[in-house]
Amino acid sequence: MSYLKQQRPEKVTVPGLRASKERGERLVCLTAYDYPTARIVDEAGTDIILVGDSVGNVVLGYDTTVPVTLDEMVRHTRAVRRGVERALLVADMPYGAYHTGPDDAVRAALRLIKEGGAEAVKLEGGRTRAGVIRRLVDEEIPVMAHIGLTPQSVHKLGGFRLQGKTATAARRLLADARAVEEAGAFSVVLEVVPREIAKLVTESVAIPTIGIGAGEFCDAQILVLHDLVGLSFSRTRPRFVRQYADLRQAMTEAIGRFAEDVRSGAYPSQNESYPLPAEAAAELHTDPILDPEDEIANGHRSALNDQAKC
Ligand code: KIV
Repeated sequence: MSYLKQQRPEKVTVPGLRASKERGERLVCLTAYDYPTARIVDEAGTDIILVGDSVGNVVLGYDTTVPVTLDEMVRHTRAVRRGVERALLVADMPYGAYHTGPDDAVRAALRLIKEGGAEAVKLEGGRTRAGVIRRLVDEEIPVMAHIGLTPQSVHKLGGFRLQGKTATAARRLLADARAVEEAGAFSVVLEVVPREIAKLVTESVAIPTIGIGAGEFCDAQILVLHDLVGLSFSRTRPRFVRQYADLRQAMTEAIGRFAEDVRSGAYPSQNESYPLPAEAAAELHTDPILDPEDEIANGHRSALNDQAKC
């Protein structure tokens, strides 16, 4: 069991997160998209696991998160659910799932909770989404909000850029954070905003702030798992990504060694295949035709007998 999990063995819950903020504990959050990564991330002691719609660019090969569907999110959330025991499991609401009104948002969120096994959902937007957040919370669905750089708005924003750079933009961010808290969100992601603004927001709301590219003052930090372990194929690496391993290199090397062994005949060895038991080998030696009911084999057997008679 990991060090982190030994230190904090108890199940992470929505009410427990606010208490963690009050105690000044920093929370660890990561994405996961399938069963094996969910097992690893949970067993390493991560507090919150997000099945992000980043699954679109990271795993499914889309250019952005925009094409990700609700069915895709449900399928990935179900896989992650099977691998998570301790962390709080949050699933992203994909683009389009909550933009047509609160009823549609509730229907989509219920699928992620009931079919996917998520304990909470995340959606992008501040004041404009307050009504939807309130409605979801009224229906007993915990909501993580997400403001700053909201990747589902990529076409409106014109790219993935630092948000909240002017005093006016910063005030809007603060108003967004207050609005989602007031609407009932239990936490808020701050993506790619200046650290001073993240500090201001963190000090202004009672719910935990979860930073990605938002500096050290947030209550929690989240990264995309594949960026952290060097399995990302994106053309640029944002400055906030710290890569702790190079799994792409490790996997390429492992596959190269396997290919070499196959081509040279070094794989498989005798220990990596199965011997025929001695008794069967002896029987086979006496009569190599395997299946007496097999017509082709029997034809072959009579031909052999005929030859012997001649
Ligand atoms: O989709 C995602 O992975 C996210 C996090 C990076 C916050 O929204």
